[in-house]
Amino acid sequence: MVKRIGVLTSGGDAPGMNSAIRSIVEMASKLNIETIGIVNGYRGLYDNQYRSLTVENTAEITSLGGTILKSSRFEQFKQDDVVKQCVVNLRNNDIEALIVIGGDGTYRGALSLNRFKIPTIALPATIDNDIVGTELTIGFNTALSTIIENIEKLKDTARSHRRCLIVEVMGRHCPDLALYSGLAGNCDYVISNLQQVNVEKLSTIINKAMAIKDETIIVVSENIVDVYDLASQLEVITNIETRGIKLSYIQRGGNPSAVDRILASRFGIKSVELLSQHQYGLALNLIDGKIKVTSIEDALNINVKDCGIYEDFYKLR
Ligand code: F6P
Repeated sequence: MVKRIGVLTSGGDAPGMNSAIRSIVEMASKLNIETIGIVNGYRGLYDNQYRSLTVENTAEITSLGGTILKSSRFEQFKQDDVVKQCVVNLRNNDIEALIVIGGDGTYRGALSLNRFKIPTIALPATIDNDIVGTELTIGFNTALSTIIENIEKLKDTARSHRRCLIVEVMGRHCPDLALYSGLAGNCDYVISNLQQVNVEKLSTIINKAMAIKDETIIVVSENIVDVYDLASQLEVITNIETRGIKLSYIQRGGNPSAVDRILASRFGIKSVELLSQHQYGLALNLIDGKIKVTSIEDALNINVKDCGIYEDFYKLR
């Protein structure tokens, strides 16, 4: 029987991570398993940074944004000698199994630990929604609402000045935040890796939108185009005041939505159940509303996300 497990959050923080931590601690406690928090992700594992997690000290964390365990990006974790030291640290601290919460970098870390026979389960948490094996990652729903809230504000000022705003949202290389916010925010166009930049077409869209409602909002997925350059180019062509904006880290903060809290709690419960049954090397996914289990490799490679939303958005544009 597993007696002591570790939990860490790694990569970009995502709203809802704390709900996952809370449900892991509660579920583990019910099964008489002790939970140790590893502070600062894989870097903290290497540096032996721990904190005790109890039902009492996690009682009021579910409404908090960010992660109480802190997070980091730790490139050195790709090196075998670094992973080996982490394995030694886990053994020295009697941590028999690990739950890691994060995005694809976190998953690759979990694969390394599994190679060294550390039982590990991975939970998908990133605002980018770029783990292809799950329909939804923890944090995406909250980030989307934050983006919409900000787009509504941008529309107010854009309309008052009769301006076009080119708004960059996060997503790394995944178009989901851009496309979903384009649809939910009723924006005029979305530039992503699915629809490349065409300045002529954009000028037509801007002119048409201005004639109807005195503002234009174009959402751009990050890593596609420089929004400031694009704004200058479009202003010259259309003669309409145009500004580039990056919403940046504001998208990652804030209190998690109910959807994210529920998803994270379900993932947390399932992860402890699996470890208590000696099942590991696994990733948890949301598929058709159910929590499903795959290998970590499959979660990174088998795409269950294509639900037709990309085509739906462009049908209207
Ligand atoms: O967590 C995901 C993400 O927010 C991406 O959307 C973005 O590209 C990246 O993290 C930013 O990373 P950092 O926090 O290291 O600047």
